[in-house]
Amino acid sequence: MKIGITGISDEKLRVPLMHIANLFFENSLIKFNELEDIDIKVSLEDKFNFASPRERKYAILRKFLEILQEVTGRTQKWGVLTGIRPTKLWHQMVREAVPHEVARNLIKADYLITDEKLAMLERIVDRQLEVVPDLYNLKGEVSIYIGIPFCPTKCAYCTFPAYAIQLNKDLVSEFLEKLHMEIRAIGEWLLSKGMAVTTVYFGGGTPTSISAEQMDALYTVLYESIPNIESVREITVEAGRPDTLSNDKLEVLKKWNINRISINPQSFHEETLKAIGRHHTAMQTIDKFKIAREYGFENINMDLIIGLPGEGVTEFKKTLNQLEELQPESITVHTLAFKRASDMTLNKEKYRVAGDDEIEIMMQESMDWMAEHHYEPYYLYRQQNILGNLENIGYSKRGQESIYNILIMEEVQTIIGLGCGASSKYIHPESGVITRYANPKDPKAYIENVDKYTTEKLKHLNDLFRK
Ligand SMILES: C[S@@+](CC[C@H](N)C(=O)[O-])C[C@H]1O[C@@H](n2cnc3c(N)ncnc32)[C@H](O)[C@@H]1O
Ligand code: SF4
Repeated sequence: MKIGITGISDEKLRVPLMHIANLFFENSLIKFNELEDIDIKVSLEDKFNFASPRERKYAILRKFLEILQEVTGRTQKWGVLTGIRPTKLWHQMVREAVPHEVARNLIKADYLITDEKLAMLERIVDRQLEVVPDLYNLKGEVSIYIGIPFCPTKCAYCTFPAYAIQLNKDLVSEFLEKLHMEIRAIGEWLLSKGMAVTTVYFGGGTPTSISAEQMDALYTVLYESIPNIESVREITVEAGRPDTLSNDKLEVLKKWNINRISINPQSFHEETLKAIGRHHTAMQTIDKFKIAREYGFENINMDLIIGLPGEGVTEFKKTLNQLEELQPESITVHTLAFKRASDMTLNKEKYRVAGDDEIEIMMQESMDWMAEHHYEPYYLYRQQNILGNLENIGYSKRGQESIYNILIMEEVQTIIGLGCGASSKYIHPESGVITRYANPKDPKAYIENVDKYTTEKLKHLNDLFRK
């Protein structure tokens, strides 16, 4: 869609205006003061005096959004909010002790977020502060993320580091050897600083795609390296793909007191699982979940995705109803995102997905189902190119929230990323300024350069925590 804008021609606004336009139309093009070869003409007069460039920018974006909402008859529930974590806005208000009514009005006026979404933010932040009462005082500790970049197969929607394990067998042991070194180096640093670790999260990829022996060796190194590991509040392992889970692996997870695991259906619809290349059946998910229960896992998360190819309200409801029998402690409801480099995006014509209206119905169905079954929302985030411009919401039964998920979303403490595709996020303990450092996604690059990555990481950490 080509949108001709008159009244302003500010290059700095081109990208934010395009982001807003893309919420309504695919691949929008913004043309300033060109009225030929355009599909829509929008007049954005810039005649007011604003206190700051930011105020001017948001006034223009709001006006643009309102015009497009009128033209299309579609409301954007998140208004002009892009690129900022919604819950962080509410946390900021809480930290500044802004009364709730005032906070609501300020956020609404700034971003045009709907009352429904605002109420959700308020509820989630309240919940997070209940679960982690010291959330704003954790800057003196760190959490650790460990990325294992292997999976049985690559799912069509996914752009996480996920190399097919059978095709990369030679790399696995070398990768793990280097990862052990990286964990030990960070362990020594933690010890030297007397630094406490709040949570540990194994993600990827699928951390249970390596063998039971390899998992055992990895957790041995973790336990040997992290000082006072018994005080870590939560250790999660993404066992996401049920086709990776075996009894011996569950035994290893139990042996090392992994207190939270994920077994992810995404959907319980067989045809969908085939279409997205999951290579496991719905029955396998159910069986592995039941076996994990027999092994005594009392905190199991399940991930779902709204809007998978070929799925509408009927299929999604079937998936929700299947959860009724299983009753996992937490459920994360994602909305399908067309990530730039995914197979699904590159071959978009092969995948038929529901329209925005149906996506919204499914989102509402999930919210109603969660409320009815006593799951409460406790974290939320949005992504680019997400269907219906909606969001991902983590729900849990009371007391079963993932602390790591809250910490990573709200950016309240440094998270050290180890392994492949792991991004370290450094939060300055005094100023709160955030800097990032990414390990490579590719195992070969990781294996070759791990010394460099470890040295640079330690330098960052020493700069951050000088004492
Ligand atoms: C890092 S992935 C790994 C989980 C695990 N390997 C698995 O597949 O079960 C975490 C979750 O993100 C979600 N996800 C990944 N790509 C997505 C996409 N393009 N759109 C929506 N959700 C996505 C899936 O629900 C997935 O379980
Ligand atoms: S199993 Fe998980 S990490 Fe691996 S490709 Fe599929 S969604 Fe991505």
